[in-house]
Amino acid sequence: MTRTARDAGYAVPAVNVFDEISMRAVLAAAERTASPLIVQISTKTVRTAGCAFVTDLFAALARDVTVPVALHLDHCPDRAVLTEVIASDWSSVLFDASDRDLDDAVRETHEVTAEAHAAGVDVESEIENILGVEDGVGSDESQHAYSVEQLAEIAESTGSDLLAPQLGTSHGLYKAHPQLLPQRAAELAALTDRPIVLHGGTGLSEADFRSFIDAGVSKINISTAVKHAYMQASLAHLEVARAKDRWDPPRLIADVSAAVTDVIAEHVAWFGADGKAAGTGSAR
Ligand code: 13P
Repeated sequence: MTRTARDAGYAVPAVNVFDEISMRAVLAAAERTASPLIVQISTKTVRTAGCAFVTDLFAALARDVTVPVALHLDHCPDRAVLTEVIASDWSSVLFDASDRDLDDAVRETHEVTAEAHAAGVDVESEIENILGVEDGVGSDESQHAYSVEQLAEIAESTGSDLLAPQLGTSHGLYKAHPQLLPQRAAELAALTDRPIVLHGGTGLSEADFRSFIDAGVSKINISTAVKHAYMQASLAHLEVARAKDRWDPPRLIADVSAAVTDVIAEHVAWFGADGKAAGTGSAR
């Protein structure tokens, strides 16, 4: 999916969800915009909901989706969770080795890639840390930074399928506009053919996304925008419910779903992915 996107000059939206409502709403955005889409699950959600439940939920909801969709495990430093997800035949996993020193990160990325590839699962690799904490994983401090030459060399030696370098972004809401590094993505893209992933998408502008896509980024992660839309729509609904003393859970779910679908459809258009899945049929 990401290679097709790169060749055609757009990025695949990769969107974090945490329950049935958010998963349905995000898949609805893919359908509405005729876009391919990667559904992402945090390690925390796998732990709380259970791998089997998430796997079955995605299979049930994706069954009738007519655009290519994939199921991806987001930032995971935990080898046991990786093993369980790989055995459950998800499309891909992000092995987050950014808490390891370089030797351990390289050795373990090699091991995870071998395990995943034997099961037909792709691996996104992170050895520098993306700033910010995402569902309990990560740090606000830069722990490791390497040269693009090192990143490309390690990607080749470990056989990682996708690369998640530090590109100036961070997870969560930005307090000030970040120092974005699209030129670093371009430098890395010149050294390796492996698709490059942009994390920390929430809060960037359409022009920011375009500069990263032009630099070679072909998967863009969005999480906070989903949580924000979900909670703001819940609050707006509940304030009206309390004022009118009218309590209607299906209406609450419909309002939350509509807000999440709208915000993801907007991002899909910003990534240039709308219409790109027209008539392509579903993926795994
Ligand atoms: P945001 O929460 O900033 O959108 O980042 C999402 C992300 O990168 C998930 O891995």
